[in-house]
Amino acid sequence: MRALVRSVPDSLVRCELTCIDRAPLDVGAARREHAGYVAALREAGLDVQVLPADEDHPDCPFVEDVALVVAGRRILLNPGAPSRRGERAAVAAALSPHLRMPEGLSLDGGDVLQIAGRVFVGRSTRSSAAAIAWLAAAIDPPVTPVDVRTVLHLKTGITALDERTLLWSSGSVDPAPFDDFELIATPPGESAAANVLRLPDRLLLSDGFPSTLQLLRERGYDARPVAIAEFARAEAGLTCLSVLLPGDR
Ligand code: GLY
Repeated sequence: MRALVRSVPDSLVRCELTCIDRAPLDVGAARREHAGYVAALREAGLDVQVLPADEDHPDCPFVEDVALVVAGRRILLNPGAPSRRGERAAVAAALSPHLRMPEGLSLDGGDVLQIAGRVFVGRSTRSSAAAIAWLAAAIDPPVTPVDVRTVLHLKTGITALDERTLLWSSGSVDPAPFDDFELIATPPGESAAANVLRLPDRLLLSDGFPSTLQLLRERGYDARPVAIAEFARAEAGLTCLSVLLPGDR
């Protein structure tokens, strides 16, 4: 498996935030976390391609929102935040050839959850119903819309642990579309642990959530904590920081 990631610009301090009342981000800390994240991907055997940072685009490390790979097909998305549209050029070049979402539609990859050959897409402030309808017509796997309630992206609140099970932060998204699956709720006080990155042989979990780590390990998952607290303050998570693709470069 291959992963596309993008380095952290100094301009990260000006990234998109829905909560503006917070201390400035520490770019040095974010860069250290990014290095740890890349190391964790490589330790899992992934071929990691690192794109250079783009100072004109503070959110550029969050590559997941810009591109999607479904059933081996690469799709270039239109991020919902207008400030993020310019992130596409470098990602488009790295993921050529690809299908391009038409202008006028907006959809963040953070709203796309794939499990058991199905594609769930969050209706969020970033992803429109029209874009979800376009995606449903463009790909073969069935697409199911999900209402996102209290979080930025669908995968902020729910992610797949395997082909039958999801980790869910209660109340964050509508659970009804996931009736065919088992939902495990994050333990009290650990709702931010719901964004797990599923790799072929392990799960990466945000560091600092001991009850969730214990819960996952007790259920037999090889869950590994990764420090990501500074990115969490940038309203980003483990899945945000990479696009996973089959094969090597
Ligand atoms: N800062 C992450 C985002 O808003 O896309």
